[in-house]
Amino acid sequence: MLTGKIVKPEEAGRLSFRSPDVGDVSAIHALVKCCAPLDVNSRFCYLSFCEHFASTCVVAEANGVVIAFIIAYSPPERRDTLFIWQMAVDQPFRQCGVAKQMLRNLLSLHHLKRIRNIEATVSPSNAAACALFHSLARECNTFLGKSLLSAATMFDEAHHKQSKLIRVGPINSISKTLIGR
Ligand SMILES: CC(C)(COP(=O)(O)OP(=O)(O)OC[C@H]1O[C@@H](n2cnc3c(N)ncnc32)[C@H](O)[C@@H]1OP(=O)(O)O)[C@@H](O)C(=O)NCCC(=O)NCCS
Repeated sequence: MLTGKIVKPEEAGRLSFRSPDVGDVSAIHALVKCCAPLDVNSRFCYLSFCEHFASTCVVAEANGVVIAFIIAYSPPERRDTLFIWQMAVDQPFRQCGVAKQMLRNLLSLHHLKRIRNIEATVSPSNAAACALFHSLARECNTFLGKSLLSAATMFDEAHHKQSKLIRVGPINSISKTLIGR
């Protein structure tokens, strides 16, 4: 836990959102370490995302401290899709709408107006992540589809073996405008 304090929902409404830069790598890496079930990747990996994919990623700050992030990218062959590679919210800020705010922030960005689908791999045992994507689908008045991950069998960890590919979409421009407000 980075902040070590309990947060009231109204405080979560005073966060600021921005694209990450290389100065955020250590904070993102530290946050991942206390956000099971995420895999902790190398700092170099987070550096690559912050350097090369910053325009499809977001960090949330409270009083200048990074308390949440989404690392995502558009697969080159499917530019209308935003694939969420990792996301986390620091424990005291959870269930205050921070993850939803970060998704809204990304969807409302002018340079991401092409995005019509959000994808992520989610284990069915991850109740919070499942609830988040169902909530996004409801808010955008669209569908949530699940499909098997063809690569799931290559993993040893149970949560990866059970992971499903979740797709929220199509998200139309009206929904994007409404949720961006
Ligand atoms: C998943 C995670 C990012 C959600 O962040 P969050 O800021 O707490 O989510 P939000 O507050 O925006 O909640 C979004 C919706 O999910 C629901 N939700 C969130 N956590 C929940 C939980 N533990 N159980 C049930 N519902 C939950 C909220 O009630 C809300 O629903 P609503 O919009 O219908 O009211 C956060 O729990 C986390 O960092 N988990 C550890 C890392 C992880 O699992 N990452 C995702 C990998 S795919």
